[in-house]
Amino acid sequence: MKIIVCRDKAEMSAVAASMVEAQVKEKPDCVLGLATGSTPEGMYALLCEKYAAGALDFSKVKTFNLDEYYPIKKDNDQSYAYFMNKHLFSHINVPAENIHIPNGECADPAEEGPAYDALVAAAGGVDLQILGIGRNGHIAFNEPDEALIMGTHLTSLTESTIEANSRFFASSDDVPRHALTMGIGTIMTAKKIIMMANGADKKEALSYLFNDKLTAAVPASLLKLHPDVTVICDEAACPDSAR
Ligand code: PGA
Repeated sequence: MKIIVCRDKAEMSAVAASMVEAQVKEKPDCVLGLATGSTPEGMYALLCEKYAAGALDFSKVKTFNLDEYYPIKKDNDQSYAYFMNKHLFSHINVPAENIHIPNGECADPAEEGPAYDALVAAAGGVDLQILGIGRNGHIAFNEPDEALIMGTHLTSLTESTIEANSRFFASSDDVPRHALTMGIGTIMTAKKIIMMANGADKKEALSYLFNDKLTAAVPASLLKLHPDVTVICDEAACPDSAR
């Protein structure tokens, strides 16, 4: 587990954007695993700037997003499809057919999960996966539970996540109660993982990447089993055990 402790969110975003840039330059047809949420917004803004400056070409890149609410229409401004268009896809030259996000409009979520995993596998797997972390230690929508699920699947949101995400909706009643999410097994097949975290409310969850416990009660703790994870966090989120 590598850790890069940044002064603040701006520096965290710049470090993460540089790693994505290096990946795309090294392998122009790479597969990127992408995350939504407030954490990666600054990184996406920098990638858009690099593209606008002619420093990056996404024409051969494929992308797979971690998750999407279910059910939700793609044009709902709270859908992750909408978020990704707004913050990244509408500003860069990644071809529409190379973009993959679990389909919040699908008729049968039980079919959507295995089909999504098959697409990830057919693309050769994710080269670089961006992850955020929930205050409760979730990754994507793999919430704390007695058991975690390997593949992409439909899941229920916990009260803690509904409350955390309600800031984006008119009220917590408007937050969808379900989501389609890559499973821990899908995430672990990525060749490289970047975990981004900023703010003191992420410190405790992040500490589980730097202790010796593996627990489904903190899904992010499973990342310790992955051979190539880089945590990029700000001072406030940095666990004492990682210093
Ligand atoms: P946030 O969400 O970036 O909005 O804090 C991260 C997450 O819940 O994975």
